[in-house]
Amino acid sequence: MDIIEKRRSIRKYKSNKIDDNLINKLMQSAILAPSGDNTQPWRFIIVDDVKIQKEIIKLSHNQKWMETAPVLIVCIADICSRIKDSDNLILDEESSIFELKQIIRDTTISIEHIVLEAVNQGLGTCWVAWFKQNEMKTLLGIPNNKYVVGILTIGYADEEPKQRPRKTMEEIVHKNKW
Ligand SMILES: Cc1cc2nc3c(=O)[nH]c(=O)nc-3n(C[C@H](O)[C@H](O)[C@H](O)COP(=O)(O)O)c2cc1C
Repeated sequence: MDIIEKRRSIRKYKSNKIDDNLINKLMQSAILAPSGDNTQPWRFIIVDDVKIQKEIIKLSHNQKWMETAPVLIVCIADICSRIKDSDNLILDEESSIFELKQIIRDTTISIEHIVLEAVNQGLGTCWVAWFKQNEMKTLLGIPNNKYVVGILTIGYADEEPKQRPRKTMEEIVHKNKW
């Protein structure tokens, strides 16, 4: 609970670099996430190249605050973990294929592992999912049969945002039946 309560979306970072060891720990936390049938569909691209970061940011509706993050982690769901002959599939916002829901579900769990382990390591993060699949995949050379679930900005926080409003227990919890 301590770590969960500490977490905020951080949109301003210090310029300090992040040690490779810490990035490795974040990746290890992702590896340990649960997934349906242990399919582990998550894949990641760690982007510390400023030129590539700038292109990613442009495609993310030019959210300028992202430029302060020393590292971006592009989080990808791979349908190969569920469909063997998927080379010709094109996964995008319009896809209704059931397995896409499963791989997004599982990849999201691993992303949240990273987010919480980042807090444990004294780092801040923010999810970004405001981009178009085809544009991001073309930029990063990601094959069509993958789905970019989100991008995490990672770095040492240079702000202390207040907790954003949350729904009450009564609004979200039912007992025994809906
Ligand atoms: C899937 C997802 C996509 C998000 N995309 C963005 C984004 O593009 N830009 C941004 O500034 N914040 C983004 N956020 C952060 C949310 O705005 C934030 O989590 C929410 O307002 C609650 O604030 P908190 O994370 O500080 O508790 C995203 C969060 C999630 C989970």
